[in-house]
Amino acid sequence: MSRWIPSLAALAVVAACSSEPPAAEAPSGPTRADSVQMAMAAFDAAAFDTISWESDQAAAERGGLVFRISCSKCHGDRGAGDGGFVLQGDTLRPPSFLAPDWRFANDPVGLRRQIFSGNVAGMPYWGLVGLKYRDIDAVARYVMGTLRR
Ligand code: HEC
Repeated sequence: MSRWIPSLAALAVVAACSSEPPAAEAPSGPTRADSVQMAMAAFDAAAFDTISWESDQAAAERGGLVFRISCSKCHGDRGAGDGGFVLQGDTLRPPSFLAPDWRFANDPVGLRRQIFSGNVAGMPYWGLVGLKYRDIDAVARYVMGTLRR
């Protein structure tokens, strides 16, 4: 009987953590909302102040590379939201970056924060899963300077 006690305790922990709908995460790991929260807390807007590029061209080239590798499968090659990536059976249709009144059109800090922190609706939290500040800067410049131009 006593060997059941630890597994019951473990079950209680899993139950306590599972207020989210079942997602891709392992049941015992942090939820997606936890990770987005963590990324929001870790985001340092001032870290971009020290990034410099030898030219706008160099930034755009790097940003284009990052976009093709990390973003276009969901956002589409031109950022129109038509990448067609399927997540948990649903084809993602993120908002287009190209609308004239796009919410980040005049908000470069908000754009970098969004890329760094992601959200619970399917946007990855890149700051925690593989993009350095420099690449976030590059891809944000690419979105604003190349895709929206
Ligand atoms: C796995 C798919 C996926 C990948 C890969 C991805 N995104 Fe997203 N992204 C989304 C989804 C889905 C949304 C919309 C979430 C929502 O409904 O709020 C989104 C939202 C955004 C938004 C906010 C758009 C708006 O108008 O509110 C920005 C900016 C963004 N992504 C940038 C990027 C960048 C830059 C990359 C690459 C570094 C990237 N995303 C990679 C799925 C993805």
